[in-house]
Amino acid sequence: MNRNIVCIGAGYIGGPTMAVIAKMNPDRKVIVVDINKERVDAWNSADYSLPIYEPALVDVVKEVRGKNLFFSTDIEGAVKECDIVFVGVNTPTKMFGKGAGRASDLQYWESTAREIKRFANGDKIIVEKSTLPVRTAAAMEAILNDHADYEFTVLSNPEFLAEGTAIKDLLEPDRVLVGGPQTPSGIAAINEVVDIYAAWVAREKILTTNVWSAELTKLAANAFLAQRVSSINAIAGLCEATGADVDEVAKVVGADSRIGPKFLKAGPGFGGSCFKKDVLNLVYLCESFGLHTAAEYWMGVVKMNDHQQERIVSRLFKEMFNTLANKKIALFGFAFKADTGDTRETPAGTVARLLADEHVRLTITDPKALENAKKDMADLDGIVYELDEYKAVEGADAIVLMTDWRHYPSLDWQKIFDSMRKPALIFDTRNCLDGAKLKDIGFKVLNIGK
Ligand code: UDX
Ligand code: ADP
Repeated sequence: MNRNIVCIGAGYIGGPTMAVIAKMNPDRKVIVVDINKERVDAWNSADYSLPIYEPALVDVVKEVRGKNLFFSTDIEGAVKECDIVFVGVNTPTKMFGKGAGRASDLQYWESTAREIKRFANGDKIIVEKSTLPVRTAAAMEAILNDHADYEFTVLSNPEFLAEGTAIKDLLEPDRVLVGGPQTPSGIAAINEVVDIYAAWVAREKILTTNVWSAELTKLAANAFLAQRVSSINAIAGLCEATGADVDEVAKVVGADSRIGPKFLKAGPGFGGSCFKKDVLNLVYLCESFGLHTAAEYWMGVVKMNDHQQERIVSRLFKEMFNTLANKKIALFGFAFKADTGDTRETPAGTVARLLADEHVRLTITDPKALENAKKDMADLDGIVYELDEYKAVEGADAIVLMTDWRHYPSLDWQKIFDSMRKPALIFDTRNCLDGAKLKDIGFKVLNIGK
């Protein structure tokens, strides 16, 4: 078995993870392959205009690309050259047939498994990186090992990185998880993958389990995090009704060391490619095992999240004299969180559509996500996309701040106020601006949970 690594799928997970693995394992060749040639070309671009924005990613790619990290569309060649095959292809929520709206669409995964089998020239270790429903590894192993010439061992090595901090999370992980069959060949395969991470991660942080535990852990971890966000957002509504302040409540609740302060920030609801998909996956799993009350419990996390965006629009409606038609509203931020250009499941998308339904004249500004915003909203006419916040806001009746971009608090808010139609309203859904200062300037200010 050789030490070379191929990763199939050059996306948000595959790209950064393999860049860091290559950096920390200079003696291994790492090849990242994808069917999307445009994406591969961007990873290979001479001016490093990489297909995803992630702080510090470009520095790592500059360090290792062409040395021991390669991006290619030659899946066959890479599978032949490498005995360790990571799979980081997309597994979106299925929108058709059985499990529609809940289960993961595994067609990309399955076709990848079949490709690996077709191209293999020896025994291979297959490592699941994408989030997958529990027992996917078993299904994949069945496909791979059915009348196969070689032995395939399927492991689960879920990725816990968060976008925007991917490189830091990869370099300093809380833990690395490798799940695999508890057989001699399974344990040997687990050790091969543990070795990759042991190049920079302390051994005690590398946890090994059986495959199903690893698969379920990833869903459970994301569901717990998503549940915290929905819990604080559920409290936020109550704060608005009673005069409590959600940030104060969260601070004191989080000061309990059993609860901890992280993931208690009320806001527009969670977005991103993982939380909703993983919770829905968990719901589907619970239902398929007849655990209907557990399914309902987790479904509540998603319902609460959807409700948060509806609440934003209905509060805006009420504050803007029960009519939004023809008013100009500027959305500040479209990415699902700061420091990423990713707009998958972004709450801003839902809010934009709800506002469009009310015939709002919409302008969207975002420092990194405008291209994705244009694609997401391509079916709606009349939306203006503007990089410059000051231009975006000219003549606007309201601003809805959706993403907590770091530079927003230090914009010239007096200048912004002066160029807006009065009364000028700002709905800071991230509670990241200085509300008192905005009120002094003359803004009407709305917040979440205040
Ligand atoms: C998440 C997990 O954190 C990561 O471990 C997993 O591998 C992938 O899914 P990611 O979706 O990139 O990562 O971002 P994360 O920082 O978890 O934020 C998710 C969403 O929750 C964002 O929309 C964010 O704005 C929101 N959020 C987060 C809150 O609204 N409040 C908080 O307190 C924290
Ligand atoms: P993630 O956030 O999980 O990384 P992305 O959508 O960013 O998801 O990336 C997944 C990548 O996998 C995409 O670039 C897609 O083109 C690629 N992909 C999907 N199916 C295949 C396949 N059969 N072979 C190679 N790459 C694939």
